Amino acid sequence: MRKVMILNGPNLDQLGTREADVYGTLTLAEIESLCKAAAVTLDFEIDFRQSNDEATLIGWLHEAAKSELPVIMNPAAFTHYSIAIRDAAAMLTAPLIEVHLSNPIAREEFRHTSFISGIAKGTISGFGANSYLLALSALAKL
Ligand code: DQA
Repeated sequence: MRKVMILNGPNLDQLGTREADVYGTLTLAEIESLCKAAAVTLDFEIDFRQSNDEATLIGWLHEAAKSELPVIMNPAAFTHYSIAIRDAAAMLTAPLIEVHLSNPIAREEFRHTSFISGIAKGTISGFGANSYLLALSALAKL
């Protein structure tokens, strides 16, 4: 069974009530359950984490790099301005897949820049919780 880290950035702990028109009504715990259910058929072991803190996310990326784990990451707002998250993610040796619930390119201009996309294997955006499940099935085929 292959281990996968799924990392979530700031404010994603508020899903369910946070801008439901943009992000949907599922909580992050419900998205985690969906990922874990999908992982059974894909033979993945999921390590699902969320933090509002940049340093914590960087520490988790270092951990994934050391353990050579693939990472699916929704960096949330850090996507658009954190060079530190990008630098930590660049140390990964296994694939990184960037995910977003919404489609940032279809939103405000400040969301059009991603510091992560350039070092990710690919990006899946705009499919709500399904973005995470699509990332898992893409990873299974790599
Ligand atoms: C997000 C998109 C980001 O622009 C935003 O800052 C988020 C969530 C998404 O999943 O759609 O917090 O990453």
